[in-house]
Amino acid sequence: MKVYIAGDIPEIGIDYLREKGLKISLNKKLISEQDFIRNAKDCNGIVTLLSQKITKDIIDSLPKLKVIANYAVGYNNIDIAYAKEKGIIVTNTPDVLTAATAEIAVSLMLSCNRRIVESENFVRDGKFSGWQPKLFLGKEIKNKTVGIIGGGRIGTATALRIKAFETNILYYSNHRNPLLEEKTDARKVSLDTLLKKSDIISIHLPLTPSTRNLLSKEKLGLLKKSSVVINTARGEIIDEKELIRKLKKNEIFAAGFDVYENEPNLNKELFKLKNAVLLPHIGSATEEARNEMSLLCAKNIANVLNNKKPLTEV
Ligand code: DGY
Repeated sequence: MKVYIAGDIPEIGIDYLREKGLKISLNKKLISEQDFIRNAKDCNGIVTLLSQKITKDIIDSLPKLKVIANYAVGYNNIDIAYAKEKGIIVTNTPDVLTAATAEIAVSLMLSCNRRIVESENFVRDGKFSGWQPKLFLGKEIKNKTVGIIGGGRIGTATALRIKAFETNILYYSNHRNPLLEEKTDARKVSLDTLLKKSDIISIHLPLTPSTRNLLSKEKLGLLKKSSVVINTARGEIIDEKELIRKLKKNEIFAAGFDVYENEPNLNKELFKLKNAVLLPHIGSATEEARNEMSLLCAKNIANVLNNKKPLTEV
């Protein structure tokens, strides 16, 4: 049995697959669909990155394929319906990256509210000439309302962490989350109420047809002038052009981006914004999470190829 690994993932997962007697073919760079097909042709399992689209054409061109292990919790890069139709199992990496992603969401909240990046650039540029009463005034997080969009694992972990800053939590979700409510006194509200009432909004939803452009121009119009928007989920959930326009006009206070509509071809207007913090999609980028993700992908593949249940099937 052969596994194609389409990315530079930590060794721990590759070693696991080798120990299980599987043959490995590895390509560390992002390549074209044609090259991907050529490389993976005779493979039974593949490990994919979120930057690699797994289309109908790819699925149809890999006759021996039994399992796709996506090295991410999100799986909007894969044609899941078609894989299912073809009897191919798709797995993802939930749980192991929850803490890492929640930490980045909270980091962005702090960075935006306290203008950390702007202040740091000011010092680096040699502009710090002494303490001043009004230098880089930000917004305290204490006593603010934080609106969590999505009441799943990462949304809950983010709420638990930001609650420690003495905040009020609102959340928007299709389902009630008793744990979130019990641990943070969070209140489930409609999306409109959340957008109108929150001082900080943090997005924690998968990208699906129903969440694409969920924060449309109209919905962004409900935000307070003082609000901060954080996105560590997927860029396409928000109308990025409108968000940029609002930031330019100071119609909101700030925004923290870890994800973008067109990764990695970012809207150049973003670079001009002083009130935006821009990260290169590093939500899960901790040694711990990335190692666990690698191992989980490997275990999922080994299980399926040994006729066992995968640990985290999508
Ligand atoms: C995911 O897992 O979906 C993140 O975006 C990257 O870790």
